[in-house]
Amino acid sequence: MEKKTYYITTPIYYPSANLHIGNTYTTVAADAMARFKRLTGYDVMFLTGTDEHGQKIQRLAEAKSVSPKEYVDEIVAGIKDLWKIMNISYDKFIRTTDDYHIDAVQKIFKQLYDQGDIYKSEYEGWYCTPCESFWTETQLIDGKCADCGRPVEKAKEEAYFFKMSKYADRLIEHIEANPHFIQPESRKNEMINNFLKPGLQDLCISRTSFTWGIPVSFDEKHVIYVWIDALANYITALGYNSGSEELLKKYWPADVHLVGKDILRFHTIYWPIMLMALGVELPKQVFGHGWLLVDGGKMSKSKGNVVDPVVLVNHFGADAVRYFLLREIPFGSDGLFNNELFIQKINSDLANDLGNLLSRTTAMIEKYFNGVIPAPTCKEGIDDSLITMAIDAHKKVEAHIEKLRIPEALDEVWTLIGRANKYIDETTPWILAKDEDKKERLGTVLYNLSETLRIVSVLISAFLPETSLKINHQLNIEATTWESVASFDGTRAGTKVIKGESIFPRIDMDAKIEELNKLKEEQIKETAPKMQPLKEEITIEDFEKVDLRMVKVLACEPVKGAKKLLKLKVDLAGEERQVISGIAQYYKPEDLIGKYVVLVANLKPAKLRGEISQGMILAASTDDDSKLFAVSIPEELPTGSIVR
Ligand code: MSP
Repeated sequence: MEKKTYYITTPIYYPSANLHIGNTYTTVAADAMARFKRLTGYDVMFLTGTDEHGQKIQRLAEAKSVSPKEYVDEIVAGIKDLWKIMNISYDKFIRTTDDYHIDAVQKIFKQLYDQGDIYKSEYEGWYCTPCESFWTETQLIDGKCADCGRPVEKAKEEAYFFKMSKYADRLIEHIEANPHFIQPESRKNEMINNFLKPGLQDLCISRTSFTWGIPVSFDEKHVIYVWIDALANYITALGYNSGSEELLKKYWPADVHLVGKDILRFHTIYWPIMLMALGVELPKQVFGHGWLLVDGGKMSKSKGNVVDPVVLVNHFGADAVRYFLLREIPFGSDGLFNNELFIQKINSDLANDLGNLLSRTTAMIEKYFNGVIPAPTCKEGIDDSLITMAIDAHKKVEAHIEKLRIPEALDEVWTLIGRANKYIDETTPWILAKDEDKKERLGTVLYNLSETLRIVSVLISAFLPETSLKINHQLNIEATTWESVASFDGTRAGTKVIKGESIFPRIDMDAKIEELNKLKEEQIKETAPKMQPLKEEITIEDFEKVDLRMVKVLACEPVKGAKKLLKLKVDLAGEERQVISGIAQYYKPEDLIGKYVVLVANLKPAKLRGEISQGMILAASTDDDSKLFAVSIPEELPTGSIVR
C-alpha cells in the first residue's frame, strides 16, 4: 500500500544576518512535526530554505565590497550549520538563487502577464535619494527613511502590479468553506475582517530601483519583487514549471505552511490568489504561530537582546533548546524566552523528571539485578494505572499533533513521566530490595519502569531526538517503532542496561547566568565597531597650521559624470570659493544650500575631475562609509569665523 504523504514547509529565511532564536522556533516546530509524521508512517517532504533577493541584501553586500551572491553564500552556509546543530531533518533546502527556481518564477510571471493578471503601471511611494529606496507610508519611521533617518520625497517608479481584487471573493469563499485553511481561528478572522473585506489593493510585484532579483524575462529592467519570488518556492521546490513534476504530483497541495504571524497575510491572501491565478490547488492549511519575545519585548540588534541559538546549544545542548521552544511557547500565541525561565525548565522537567527517572531506574537495575532487566513475573493492581497510561499516551499525543498542539502533546508525555516517578515512591523498590521474598515483585517494578521509559523514548523521539537515542542506548534498545508503543511488552527481559552519564545534569542557575552574561558582554565588545587607531601625537603648533573656518554654502550642484561628487560655492567672509566634495551619495544639493559648514581654508587647491577645489569640507563618517554627515554649525556665525 502506498504511504500517505505529508508536506510541511517553513518560511524561507532572509540571509541578512545570523538567525536568532525566534527564527529557530519555526524550524524546530516544523522539524518536530516532520519527524512525528515520519515516525507514524507518512512519506514526508519537509522543506526549508532561504529568500535571497532584494535591495537589502544588495546593500549589505555592497557595504562589504562583495557580490550579493558571495554575500548570501556565506550566510546560507551558516544557516545550514545552525540547522545541523539543531538536528533539523529537512528533506530539501531551497535557495531562491537556485537556477531552477529562477527559471520557474520567470515562467510564472510571464504566464500571469499573458493571461492579464499582471499589468504595468506606476508605483507611487516615498523615496530616499541617498539610499535609493522606496518606502510605503507605513514603512517610514517618523515620516523619514527607515534605513538612514533622512527626509524622503514622493516619487514614482514604473512597476508591474498583480490584480488581487479579481480573486478576492473566491478566496473569501474558500476560507469560509474550509475552516482549517487558516489556523489558529483568531487569525482567520483577522485576515477576513481586516484585509479581505475592506477590499484588496493591487500588489506591486516588480522594481526598477535595484538589480538584485529575478529579472522579468520580457522587460529586463524590472526585477520581480520579493513576495512572488519567495512564495513560489513552495511549488518550485517540487519542480513546478521544470518539466519534471513528479514530486509536485506526489506532495502538492502542502499539508501545512508553518509561518510566523507577521507573514500570515502574505500566505493566506497573496499566495492563494497567486495559486488560483495559476490554476494550482491551494495548500490545505496555513498555520500562523506566535512571536517569541525576550526580556525587553521583540528581539532587535539595537536593543542588544537578540538571543543566539548557537550559544544556547553550546551550553545546554540542542534538545534543551528544542524542549523549551516546543513545550513552553503556546503554539499559536506569543511566549517569553529568558535564561532564567529556560534553566528552570531544564532543571525541573529534563533533569528532575526525565533525567532522574532514567538514572534511578538504571541505577536500581544495576544495583539489584547486576544491570540485567528482570522479567515482569509478579504483577500487582497498583501497576495498572501506570500501564494503562503508558499504553494510552501515544493516542493522546497523536491526536494533539494532528491539530499542531505541540505543547499539549508534550504535556501528555510529561504526565506519564510524572506518573512513573510517583510509581517509584508508591512501590518503594529500596524497601522491596531488603526482602529476598520480594525479589520478583522488585523485578516487576523495575521492568515496568524500563518499559515506561522505552515508551517515553519513542514518544519524545520527534521532539528530542538526541535524548531519545541516549535513553535507548542506556536501556540497550536497538530500534523504536510507533507500533511498539501500543502495548506494554516491548522491553526484552534479560537485556543488559548500560548505565551512562546523567542525560541532563542539573544546572547551577546563578553560576550559569553569570557565565552567560559575561559571554554576552564579550560578544558585544567584539562586535562593537572598532575605532581606527589614533595618529601620531602632534603639538598645538602643528595643529594651528590647519586653518579651519566656518563658511556658508551658497550654491551646490552635482559634478557631471562623477556620481560621488558635489560642487559647492561657499562664502568665506565675502570671498566666494569653489569646493569639490565627495558627499553626493549622502546629500542632495538642496539639502546643503544655506548650511554653515567647516572648511579647511588653507589647503592647497587641487583639481578633481577637471574642477578646481579650493579647500575641503569636514565630515564624519563610519569606516565602511555607510553613513556620513558634514560637520555643521546649528546657528549663524559670521562666515570666516575660526574653528579651533
Ligand atoms: N523571507 C520571509 C519569508 C518568506 S516565506 C515565502 C521572511 N523571512 S524572515 O527571515 O524575516 O523570517 C522568517 C520567519 O521567522 C517568519 O516566519 C517570522 O515570523 C519568524 N520570526 C522572526 N522573528 C520571530 C520571533 N521573534 N518569534 C517567532 N518567529 C519569528 O519573513
